[in-house]
Amino acid sequence: MRGRRHNLMAMTVVPSHLEASSQAARYRALDEQYSAHNYHPLPVVIAEASGAWMTDVDGRHYLDFLAGYSALNFGHRHPDLIAAATEQLGRVTLTSRAFHHDQLGPFCRELAELTGTDRVLPMNSGAEAVESAIKIARKWAYRVKGVPENRAEIIVAGSNFHGRTTTIVSFSTDPVAHDEFGPYTPGFIVTDYGDAAAVEAAITERTAAVLVEPIQGEAGVIVPPADYLPRLRRLCDDNDVLLIADEIQSGLARTGELLASEHDGIRADLYTLGKALGGGILPVSAVVGRDDVIGVLEPGQHGSTFGGNPLACAVGRAVVRMLSTGEFQERSRELGAHLHARLGELVGRGAVEVRGRGLWAGVELAAGGPTGRQASEALAERGVLCKETQDTTLRIAPPLVITRAELDTGLDAIEAVLTS
Ligand SMILES: Cc1ncc(COP(=O)(O)O)c(C=O)c1O
Repeated sequence: MRGRRHNLMAMTVVPSHLEASSQAARYRALDEQYSAHNYHPLPVVIAEASGAWMTDVDGRHYLDFLAGYSALNFGHRHPDLIAAATEQLGRVTLTSRAFHHDQLGPFCRELAELTGTDRVLPMNSGAEAVESAIKIARKWAYRVKGVPENRAEIIVAGSNFHGRTTTIVSFSTDPVAHDEFGPYTPGFIVTDYGDAAAVEAAITERTAAVLVEPIQGEAGVIVPPADYLPRLRRLCDDNDVLLIADEIQSGLARTGELLASEHDGIRADLYTLGKALGGGILPVSAVVGRDDVIGVLEPGQHGSTFGGNPLACAVGRAVVRMLSTGEFQERSRELGAHLHARLGELVGRGAVEVRGRGLWAGVELAAGGPTGRQASEALAERGVLCKETQDTTLRIAPPLVITRAELDTGLDAIEAVLTS
């Protein structure tokens, strides 16, 4: 596999103008030689960014239509976030959890209030939040539900993406993410995404939780049938099972609501949050949810040296403040309606389907036209950066600070690439 990846990188066709700079080529060569080949980036080399714009090492400007997979919901270097980080950098950045500090409690309270939950477990990466939710659900199953030890099961969805750790890839149905990383962690049952009847059939007395993305991001921005999440909620209630919503990519205003599951009118018992929680500045993630569930953890059973550090909490508090006004949710709703209206006009003209909610869309490309990779490269040539997910889907997720005029600039480029 490593060899194949290497060849793929070596064969990457660099669009002519992107090859213009020997400086850019030098940076790419360094990446190629010294960094692990676990990504296949577009051949642009970014040096600076602000708001919805990025600038490469040659001074060329690009509109960001990816927003760091939703980590940059507030754009690059939002002044309020930079101010919060700078202020905290001047005070204290890390204590470890061996001591209290003056940012943790306020951050947890403010995030719990924002999300309407009781308690917060702060971590760093998204995968860590998911791992943490799995551990909490298992502990809850043994301590509270009475599942015999080591027999707990968690029901997940096919085509899921919850991260890259060994436990999480154990229940991935994507062979690239999964294969050759075994032996795998047992205790997960995979059901088709959107199929609540399959979840019902899979529930047993040993089921601790159902873990699901309210909208599947990496799978291609897949919105489930309207009754899916409400039916999962009822099944979980009826069977004493926890519902865990992974809102790491879908949450924090991306879809026009604070949490994507609000569109379905349901509440989860646990939510995993990440990406935008760190304001695009540093990794900040969390499990938030019910007191009686997160409360099963006791000292020493879980933790992280950097989880809940003062800098992360200070930035997270600024993120919570920004989300509490509803301004970003509103922008996502309004601009998202425009985005989907314009992308919808491309169905039959290079696209076969457009999915998503708010300022988030998966554009399914027509067979015979450019692949997702080719479309992304063509867009980069036109100064718009986004990325395929799966071979045939363009994922569009601009920062929520983008203006309507900027959005139209990017959409004009997409229209030109898909219809040319
Ligand atoms: C739904 C979801 N969960 C978990 C993750 C993993 O987050 P991280 O890359 O920060 O570990 C991602 C990342 O794309 C995601 O989209």
